[in-house]
Amino acid sequence: MDFAGEHILTVEQFTPARLERLFEVTDRMLPYARRERTTRVLEGAVLGNLFFEPSTRSRLSFGAAFNRLGGHVRETTGFAFSSMAKGESIHDTSRVVSGYADVVVVRHPDEGAVGEFAAAAKVPVINGGDGPGEHPTQALLDFYTLCRERDLRPGGVGGATVALVGDLRFGRTVHSLVKLLSGEGPLRFACVAPAELQLPDHLAELLRERGHRVDLTDVLEDGLRDADIIYATRIQQERLPADITTEGFQDRFRIDAALYDRVCEPGTILMHPLPRDSRTGHSELDDDLNGRPELAIFRQTDNGIPVRMAVFALVLGVADQVEDTARPVTWHHPA
Ligand code: NCD
Repeated sequence: MDFAGEHILTVEQFTPARLERLFEVTDRMLPYARRERTTRVLEGAVLGNLFFEPSTRSRLSFGAAFNRLGGHVRETTGFAFSSMAKGESIHDTSRVVSGYADVVVVRHPDEGAVGEFAAAAKVPVINGGDGPGEHPTQALLDFYTLCRERDLRPGGVGGATVALVGDLRFGRTVHSLVKLLSGEGPLRFACVAPAELQLPDHLAELLRERGHRVDLTDVLEDGLRDADIIYATRIQQERLPADITTEGFQDRFRIDAALYDRVCEPGTILMHPLPRDSRTGHSELDDDLNGRPELAIFRQTDNGIPVRMAVFALVLGVADQVEDTARPVTWHHPA
């Protein structure tokens, strides 16, 4: 149960009991994330935030979560501005950063690279996304959001139909979420993707072995029908092999207000890890759904802060001291 000193590399580290603990700490982080209170529990601590792939919300929310606990953030972005551009190995980079920071977040384009980084590190390493591998904290915040939307607790999500839509092959947030949900009571997964981008066989197998129903389809309407939760994803263009052309995918897999109203039950939750591709002709989750109460995407991003605060507090062993230095905020903050 104790997370102190642990690397966070995969959602497989989270049993239902550990998820309960994480969510309990996350709930206690809400007043700080909402800027009602401040805490200095991580005063003097340093986060090394190493992002070797594009990012907006993961990099900023890991950083902001650490700041909200009173800690400092140092970061590098991209290979070009780090010594990896000079040929430095993951091992050496990891050992060096271990001397500067108390905890490190790494995003890297290669699956397994963050694990390699952790093996050489002297401080906890958190996987901020390793190629098409995993993105554990995204799945934790997705699962936290899903539970809050439906007033459920870990272990109590069974019985629902979850439609996973888009790039299920290369989407690491899907891989982490599927593994996390595999520990719930039986669910039905409707996996909606072009055949080339369907859920990897080993994940479909894992779900079936654990008693879940898995339906694969490349017809969007069929997949969305009867869904309680829709989890849409972006085609991971940057990971596609040259022989996969995405011509026409966006038209076949776009969810917009007209389709939602025609096919989905009112109340069906719409999720997406973001970024969604909002360029004309791309949008997998259309902007015309903005303003719908069922659109949970910005509740997901908001929840990223308290969830990541909880992860930091747990791996640094201060989860139960956060309130000791709590004070009301003094600046104007959003209601
Ligand atoms: C995702 C990622 O980087 O895997 N973004 C995120 O962290 N929320 C999804 C994506 O890039 O499509």
